[in-house]
Amino acid sequence: MELILDTADAGQVRELSDMLTITGVTTNPTIITRSGKTPEQVADDMLSVLSDDQLLFMQTVATDFDGIMADARRICSLRPKSMYVKIPVTHEGLRAIKAAKAEGLGVLATAIYSADEAFLAAMNGADYLAPYVNRMENYGDGVGQVEDLLEMLAANGLPAKVVAASFKNAGQVHELVRAGIQAVTVPPEVVYAMVDHPGTGIAVGEFSAAWRAAYGRDTFAAE
Ligand code: G3P
Repeated sequence: MELILDTADAGQVRELSDMLTITGVTTNPTIITRSGKTPEQVADDMLSVLSDDQLLFMQTVATDFDGIMADARRICSLRPKSMYVKIPVTHEGLRAIKAAKAEGLGVLATAIYSADEAFLAAMNGADYLAPYVNRMENYGDGVGQVEDLLEMLAANGLPAKVVAASFKNAGQVHELVRAGIQAVTVPPEVVYAMVDHPGTGIAVGEFSAAWRAAYGRDTFAAE
């Protein structure tokens, strides 16, 4: 499974890439505007912390076909490899997904709220499909829709990867990992919630205290 970070914070990308196995980073216009930086600064920051093999996904902002295509080409020109454009699955966006794939661009279909939208984007050749799991919960069973999507893609032999997005808690990620999802994009705070069980810190504190009491030091071997 690919673990992707949904963030514009390059510091957290660096920290989590050192600690965990991170496939790449997704951003969207909201994430970028909230960062207080320009899109160019965010792209530069990300390119300075990502390895050549870590993927970067940035989203088109224009909503008409020609504008989406211009944004897509610009985004994909930011680096020679490992670069993907995110295109929302509006009517114009679906058309642009087909055209972008015909040009050989890496494409993630985004702003997906149903398994059907995702499936049709996969038929247009999208490499990744990003259903907004938490937002989908407002309309029904978000996790269940994504599980349906996994079955629909497998039943029809479509190679698109599902990169579930819009997570608000670790439980949602857990359910989809258990269902065999290909990828998730997760905000750093939810990744930390997955990794920071309080019991682990308590256990390590007990080990350290016992060792210090017995041997008067904090390392396995005496210096
Ligand atoms: O990457 C976009 C997606 O994760 C949206 O997340 O938190 O705005 O629902 P959110």
